[in-house]
Amino acid sequence: MSKVSEVSDQFTPVITGDGSSTFYSAEFHEWFHSRAGACCEAQTTYVVAAHLVQRAQQMPAGSVLKILDVCYGLGYNTAAALEMIWAVNHNCQVEVKALEIDLAAARSAIAQNLTQSYSFPIQQILQDLSIHCTAKTKNLQAQILLGDARQQIQPLVAQNWQADVIFLDPFSPPNCPQLWTTEFLCLVARCLKPNGGELVTYSCAAAVRASLLLADLTIGTLSTPARQWPGTIASYSPLTDLAALSQQAQEHLQTRAAVPYRDPHLNATAEEILAHRIQAQAVSKLMPTKPWRRRWAASRR
Ligand SMILES: C[S@@+](CC[C@H](N)C(=O)[O-])C[C@H]1O[C@@H](n2cnc3c(N)ncnc32)[C@H](O)[C@@H]1O
Repeated sequence: MSKVSEVSDQFTPVITGDGSSTFYSAEFHEWFHSRAGACCEAQTTYVVAAHLVQRAQQMPAGSVLKILDVCYGLGYNTAAALEMIWAVNHNCQVEVKALEIDLAAARSAIAQNLTQSYSFPIQQILQDLSIHCTAKTKNLQAQILLGDARQQIQPLVAQNWQADVIFLDPFSPPNCPQLWTTEFLCLVARCLKPNGGELVTYSCAAAVRASLLLADLTIGTLSTPARQWPGTIASYSPLTDLAALSQQAQEHLQTRAAVPYRDPHLNATAEEILAHRIQAQAVSKLMPTKPWRRRWAASRR
């Protein structure tokens, strides 16, 4: 394995609940993964939720399983996906497009051996991606589209490139609202295959769910063992009954928490997006969120 040419030491690994490590982003004031288990989160919230085992097993010969990894970070979601796909179908052809603004975390993870729990070929792929932004093997074409995801996604939309599975894993809406706006999520949705494609995310924010609905997707709830709250699955195809939104989640969508983040020109700052949303919430005809929160907290007592 070749050496990483540029090593960033800006990240200090911290061990999470499952023994795997993550980093803290001083820029976004947030951990890259759930502290309950970073690799567990990649496995459960993304790989299992997006039915990658079944997809890989049922892949017709000659077809390519396409993944869009929105926010590559340390590469755990991509790594966990490739590991699982080839464990059940070692001939499966895979194409990965990943969006990421900064390779520092990916490079730092490799330099500090955080990806060693993955098999050697996967480690090599992560290393190639972190150095060259591309990785190619007989079964894989992978590429990191480096830069602001709001711009980097546009050529994919223009080419009508569509994924079987989308991992949507930005930092949380309060810290990175740019990647949870209606405008950006509509572009993400256009990169999802209309027949059976599935988008999965750890977020259950009502504003995010409202934007996914505005993008014409059907949404459902997702069990996320690495988090204290459920995530969201979205698709143009019908979802199983198991994914049906609870009464509580449906009512959440009727409150001002569901006022979407907006970024009409896909170039606003986080501060602008947050300030605009506060103004929109103030004049919204939706119900205030506090009574909803109180009611559901009381029902749990
Ligand atoms: C929660 S982390 C992703 C963790 C990752 N999925 C993993 O498995 O390690 C969020 C990532 O979003 C990236 N990011 C933040 N703003 C971005 C933007 N505007 N465009 C693209 N990526 C961005 C950060 O650099 C960070 O790596």
